[in-house]
Amino acid sequence: MQHLVSMEKLSTEDIKHLIEVASQYKHGEVRPSLKGKYIANLFFENSTRTKCSFEMAEHRLEMKQINFEIATSSVQKGESLYDTCRTLQSIGCDALVIRHHENNYYDELLHMGIPIINAGDGSGQHPTQSLLDLMTIYEAFGRFEALNIVICGDIKNSRVARSNYQSLTALGANVVFSSPDIWQDETMGGTYVDLDDVIDKVDIVMLLRVQHERHDEGDITFDAKAYHAQYGLNEARYNRLKEDAIIMHPAPVNRNVEIADALVEAPKSRIFKQMQNGVYLRMAVLTETIR
Ligand code: CP
Repeated sequence: MQHLVSMEKLSTEDIKHLIEVASQYKHGEVRPSLKGKYIANLFFENSTRTKCSFEMAEHRLEMKQINFEIATSSVQKGESLYDTCRTLQSIGCDALVIRHHENNYYDELLHMGIPIINAGDGSGQHPTQSLLDLMTIYEAFGRFEALNIVICGDIKNSRVARSNYQSLTALGANVVFSSPDIWQDETMGGTYVDLDDVIDKVDIVMLLRVQHERHDEGDITFDAKAYHAQYGLNEARYNRLKEDAIIMHPAPVNRNVEIADALVEAPKSRIFKQMQNGVYLRMAVLTETIR
């Protein structure tokens, strides 16, 4: 694997291989190292999980990190993304982890001769989030085929929804969406349902963060209480879930909006398990891309 920029570019075999490698790392069956390799993490959008999870993965692989902060870099003097990345390659970085607000920002970087790992591009793709979600699902069910999944929330603005819809359907899962009309996305395909019509039938409820930062002025009418009542996971819906159903959310969570505060760490929740798996999954992505 030369780069990881989109789930569309991974075959189902690639996905299963990455999950298997991550699982070996998690269970201590293999002790990987990328000692002597240099990496820079470029986050043009805010992040807690993805940035810290990559940093942790890099530490566990004994990599050296080149500290790069947008606010103190020459990006502030107008340096282009291409020139920033070309510079980091020239000084000896072996890979770049990048989160950027522009969809497909990576297109101009793929022939530079340095692995590009997409940590999220606008509303486009979030491949490592999708892979860690898939790892978490595989741990829970041991398969993807015929699982019934509802992805609920701000579909249109969510790179997580796009990445997971593509990968889960390719892997044989049955995926439907539940979302207010304004956040439905016809370009993605898929069927929209009422959450209450499917809540007792699904194996997985995948909740999405309401992405206020990607909404225009119209969003000032957003009513968190009304949203929670129609699209949020509350106690009543939780109690209707199948016995072995699980709840997922990429986080950060807007508590009492997408999910009731008391349910974030409920027995069916895998939210913190997703974060834990993310470190091993990102270690696998790094060892599969950096030579
Ligand atoms: N899930 C996720 O991408 O979280 P961060 O924005 O905190 O990285």
